[in-house]
Amino acid sequence: MIWTGLDIATAVTEALAKRPSSQSIYFLCSTDTESLCHELIHTAELGVDPKHIFTVPNGEIAKNLHTAETIFQWLQGSGAMRNALLINVGGGALCDVGGFCAATYMRGITYWNIPTTLLAMVDASVGGKNGINLGHHKNYIGTFQQPERVFVSPHWLNTLPHTELLSGWAEVIKHGVLSGGKQFQQILKPIPAVTDHQTWSGILTWNIKVKSRIVEADFTEQGERKLLNLGHTIGHALESWSHDQQSPIAHGNAVAWGLVLETALACTCAEAPQETEALYQSLKQLVQSLYPPIKYGNMDIPSLMEYIRADKKNQDESLLFSLAFTPGNCKYNCEISAETVVQILQDHVDDGH
Ligand SMILES: NC(=O)c1ccc[n+]([C@@H]2O[C@H](COP(=O)([O-])OP(=O)(O)OC[C@H]3O[C@@H](n4cnc5c(N)ncnc54)[C@H](O)[C@@H]3O)[C@@H](O)[C@H]2O)c1
Repeated sequence: MIWTGLDIATAVTEALAKRPSSQSIYFLCSTDTESLCHELIHTAELGVDPKHIFTVPNGEIAKNLHTAETIFQWLQGSGAMRNALLINVGGGALCDVGGFCAATYMRGITYWNIPTTLLAMVDASVGGKNGINLGHHKNYIGTFQQPERVFVSPHWLNTLPHTELLSGWAEVIKHGVLSGGKQFQQILKPIPAVTDHQTWSGILTWNIKVKSRIVEADFTEQGERKLLNLGHTIGHALESWSHDQQSPIAHGNAVAWGLVLETALACTCAEAPQETEALYQSLKQLVQSLYPPIKYGNMDIPSLMEYIRADKKNQDESLLFSLAFTPGNCKYNCEISAETVVQILQDHVDDGH
């Protein structure tokens, strides 16, 4: 059940009142979201035992087995049994590690997500995929288990750094391309101020609907859910390559450029209508106006291709992409030859990336 609104404290209090009184509550947060979590507990007058609140490091660094073990030990040490409820308050990384721990502690306890970044609100907290990294391999360990409830409030965007807002906006762009119509028109407009809660409420609501509809149709990603990977094959390759270069680029920045390059791939498909070129041009213009360029050279293309070949969506030797042809008309499992991918990467070397 997904709640969207401003008065999150009341919504959480009301939802907690419906739970069995024997169910103990545990709050998981990160260093950056600790104060937000305490503010919520205080405003909602929840009177939580301080031992039932646990803080892990911020961001990606917490998505590993070590942090998961500290969470398991905290839950066990503070008496959490199978009927416990874990509430994750944080960004996508925190929701991922918290969801993973909830799904596996005592073979699964109930969890709720309270996402505090734009990316987590429109994407990571919804859909029941959770995971931790194994070394440099992202999301290699994880489960599919839906959170029982998700509480989404634009209020939490107030403290978010602009770079993190832009990172989440790349997923908003992706959802706009997936749905077409009014949503596509919205992504071409400027990003609203974080204080404009009314506009943000509308944006969060339609984004969650787009993701939820696809997840409901294909929970374990056998087909349609692959559409949510739009822009992510090349995006992840750019991101991983940048880490190898010791000059990491933000996830959203990589996904935004991934969307542009993958739409260039769509233009090469026999089935692409003439309008695909117009979509490519408008996405390129949009991404150029919002995100820093990603500079790679011809000599980086073999490394990028290695990451593209290792993408989980590929089958055997075929490179399979989710591609947008026109706003609202996207397809998954589109086979593209390695030569075409190399050509598109080469075409984009010298035009400001
Ligand atoms: N499970 C899924 O379906 C799914 C989908 C997309 C992404 N993800 C995962 O989500 C993660 C990325 O999530 P993210 O972009 O939220 O990054 P993040 O969780 O690393 O958060 C980014 C930074 O913002 C800080 N932060 C969080 N909320 C804040 C707030 N309100 N004010 C100020 N600072 C705040 C965090 O502490 C962190 O430093 C990745 O690990 C990715 O794999 C998962």
